[in-house]
Amino acid sequence: MTLAVAVSPQVSVEGTVQEVIYKKALPKVIVLETAGRLLWIKLKKSLRQELHPHPRVGDRLRIYGDRCCKGSDRAYYCKAHHLEFLAVKQPSGSVAVPRCKVLICQKSSCCRRGAKQLWQELQQEAIAQELPICLKATGCLGECKRGPAVVVLPLKKRVTHANAEQIKALVQQQATLNG
Ligand code: FES
Repeated sequence: MTLAVAVSPQVSVEGTVQEVIYKKALPKVIVLETAGRLLWIKLKKSLRQELHPHPRVGDRLRIYGDRCCKGSDRAYYCKAHHLEFLAVKQPSGSVAVPRCKVLICQKSSCCRRGAKQLWQELQQEAIAQELPICLKATGCLGECKRGPAVVVLPLKKRVTHANAEQIKALVQQQATLNG
């Protein structure tokens, strides 16, 4: 006998943030304007916790999620499990692409070697010091015994036994290159 399992359709949508609703200091809902429509998008808990930077009004995002079915969370367009910053709003009102993407392996070997703490440390420092970075969890980078393993883009720099100071130095190096 085969069991039928209901699977929500996957969607991806691109647009500009109009509003961010917080719960317990984490973004819970994003209102996204796309092609003249306002979409209410609920962030999955796992995404809320790993998100950095937090989206702000005016940022352009691409959001991936499970389409909400009628009857449950009807008001929401989708439940997002991943999002990508296409452009972030600057204080001047202009938009710019984030300068550094920091991929941090979040698989078990790296987590045992401090990858989660590294993530939290960088997240806190990025908020406190307004570092132009976007943290992203990634799968195994093939450096399991030398974790935490990190890749910093666009420098394409791979760091093993990574710590926050090394990553900050690379981000600053990239910022210098960008002028
Ligand atoms: S588990 Fe992190 S590199 Fe393999």
